[in-house]
Amino acid sequence: MSINIAVLASGRGSNLQAILDAISTGNLDAKVQIVLVNVPGAGAIDIAAKHGVATAVVPNAGLTRKEHEEKVIAELKKHDLDFIVLAGYMRVLSSGFLSNFKDPRGFFKVINIHPSLLPAFPGTRGYEEAFEYGVKVAGVTVHLVDEKVDHGPILAQATFSRTEDDTIESFKARGLRIEHELYPQVLQNIARDGVTYFKRLKDDAVQAENNQGTDRETARR
Ligand code: GRF
Repeated sequence: MSINIAVLASGRGSNLQAILDAISTGNLDAKVQIVLVNVPGAGAIDIAAKHGVATAVVPNAGLTRKEHEEKVIAELKKHDLDFIVLAGYMRVLSSGFLSNFKDPRGFFKVINIHPSLLPAFPGTRGYEEAFEYGVKVAGVTVHLVDEKVDHGPILAQATFSRTEDDTIESFKARGLRIEHELYPQVLQNIARDGVTYFKRLKDDAVQAENNQGTDRETARR
């Protein structure tokens, strides 16, 4: 089943490019209905335009979070969307925003890619902090978004090793290549099988509310 997605970005858009490439080559059964950026001039906008995808620029400068999110929601609501896909979108989403995209099963239909093996190294410097810490194995996480930053149910993770001669640049580049493979694959898994993740057994407020029923949550659109 094909999924309709919006991609939200703030920067260069290499993950957006990977998603659009996977769609073009028939490896991802999805349609990008809109690419929305909060930073005027973000590379993601050019990539979208080259692929003939509709774009929206919604700057957050000078607006409160609520005001900005209301504008973003108004843009997104113009489209028939199954999922919101965050690809380097450097804004924390409020629970008010997320509540617009709630699946009946309790999770939010908002997906993010994070450059670390969560729950290690949340925040904006995932690769840098992993490298500075001296990890031997690093990775990438694709997860559902919840009210906490870099926290929601994990959809997929992929690992890579740090080598003796790595610099931060070579380390980040290897991670980014993995992101570009993983994100389209996860989206394709969702298009084919719905959303699946393992129930988080260590309880916390968010998970207690979201995780009811079986050990393996499965939902189809
Ligand atoms: C990626 O490293 C992603 O994991 C993180 O932000 C970066 C976005 O890069 N959330 P790009 O704009 O997709 O090239």
